[in-house]
Amino acid sequence: MRTTRRRFLQNMTWMTAAAATHRVHAGHAGGAIVSGQLLDTSALARFVDALPLAALTKPAGVRPSPDNPALQVPYYRLAMRQFETKVHRDVPPTTFWGYGGSCPGPTIEARHGKPLLVEWANELPHQHLFPVDHTLHGAEADKPDVRTVVHLHGGRTGPESDGYPENWFVPGQSGTSYYPNQQEAAGLFYHDHAMGITRLNAAAGLMGLYLMRDEFEDGLNLPKGAYEIPLVLFDRSFRPDGQIHDPVSGKTGAPWVSEYYGSAILVNGKIFPYHEVEPRKYRLRLLNGSNGSFYRLGFSADPSVASTGLMFHQIGSEQGFLAAPAPMNLLILGPGERADVILDFRGSAGREIFLRTNVATVMQFRVGPGKSDDPSTVPATLRPVPRLPESASAITRELTIADYQDRLGRSNVMLLNGAHWNMPVTEKPVLNSTEIWSFINLTDDSHPIHLHLVRFQILDRRPFDLGVYQLTKKIVLTGPAMELAAGEMGWKDTVRVDPMTITRIIVKFEGFAGKYVWHCHMLEHEDNEMMRPYIVTTA
Ligand code: C2O
Ligand code: CU
Repeated sequence: MRTTRRRFLQNMTWMTAAAATHRVHAGHAGGAIVSGQLLDTSALARFVDALPLAALTKPAGVRPSPDNPALQVPYYRLAMRQFETKVHRDVPPTTFWGYGGSCPGPTIEARHGKPLLVEWANELPHQHLFPVDHTLHGAEADKPDVRTVVHLHGGRTGPESDGYPENWFVPGQSGTSYYPNQQEAAGLFYHDHAMGITRLNAAAGLMGLYLMRDEFEDGLNLPKGAYEIPLVLFDRSFRPDGQIHDPVSGKTGAPWVSEYYGSAILVNGKIFPYHEVEPRKYRLRLLNGSNGSFYRLGFSADPSVASTGLMFHQIGSEQGFLAAPAPMNLLILGPGERADVILDFRGSAGREIFLRTNVATVMQFRVGPGKSDDPSTVPATLRPVPRLPESASAITRELTIADYQDRLGRSNVMLLNGAHWNMPVTEKPVLNSTEIWSFINLTDDSHPIHLHLVRFQILDRRPFDLGVYQLTKKIVLTGPAMELAAGEMGWKDTVRVDPMTITRIIVKFEGFAGKYVWHCHMLEHEDNEMMRPYIVTTA
């Protein structure tokens, strides 16, 4: 059993984020691991499986656009299915759930201004892979165990197509979403969002990439085709029979646990994969698809986790390009966050380069010998990211993030602004207005907070006095704003809210009016009340 104390220590490292040597990702920390019952993934042979690359989806035809029935738009059909796959050469086949029968599911490529329809078909069995906790909101015993609804994370999507958590459907049914694609090039992803069981559906494998393209991106001359590689990261633990281990609490009838940290980090569904590359630039589209793990990622010529990272350039955050490529050797990605990165293997011909976190080696790139033609470039500037001025904001909402624990320090429930899912909607921004949301973290965890529909900018992250706040509800800042990473200066849709900090974002509520959600993207938290509806009004 992980203890609160351990969690506290892990997350304390955020307070010294500069000390990059501290471990943050639990990875092999192994607190939840009961030895003997789980596969020791760290002992598996390294780099014996090739990195799988997800297929690109093709439309199944055309259908009339819901916006304009005279217009035909591409129509895709993706079925969620149970399937078996090998996560590693030496591990028996694992049962997963996946869109199109793969995990990650096939990549959808969309173009700005070219709408499309996806029919998401639930063809899953009636029994869940993992135990459902019927004490959680929306997952009561009168609900079917297997329910799904698909959300396009980062999509500027109308409310009826956004995958509202209560709009789930069961095996044999499907839901069709209309994606207008009126937004800038960015790496989005689709995943399950069913009320009270999102963590289980995601752990089973229901996720895939959705790459939005546009003309601006075409003009950048970035590496493309085989030189653009999606890397979907998530961690899982496995049983010796190869099946995914889903941790349970041990409380009778209430199996929910507050976090899922797996023993192995998979890339595109493989443990310790390798990928052969040429000595040239590559564009890596990274997604942290984990339920609860944050990763401190780096590349190095030395597989040891303490080695100094190679320089690479981050060119995009969740919602599109940064203003300019940002050189760095460390990238922090929380659950739901994405990064668009250029890594140049030119100086590494004939060598091996490793992707690693600060606690685990993740994958290997085998760089071919000699020289490679590389017509791609990293432009000096990308897309301007005009800063939203605080003066544009109509209102500042102060929103707490809190974790209510029992006497043993185990989480019972986690709330946003002290409110449960079913309480009246309190966040009602007006369409096209700008607001500042100020997240006050009262917990000892980092929480990746995500708003549907919108893109936003991070204003700042500042330490405050938690004790004073708890006694008086007064905010006393205890230090200057912490430095934001270069990738945090771009357009975001998910923000890391660190313990004992107040993190402020500025958001323009554009696109659609209607009911959406905002929530913590640690899926265990989201499923236990750390999610709230919000309504964009036309008042
Ligand atoms: Cu990626 Cu509401 O989720
Ligand atoms: Cu959380």
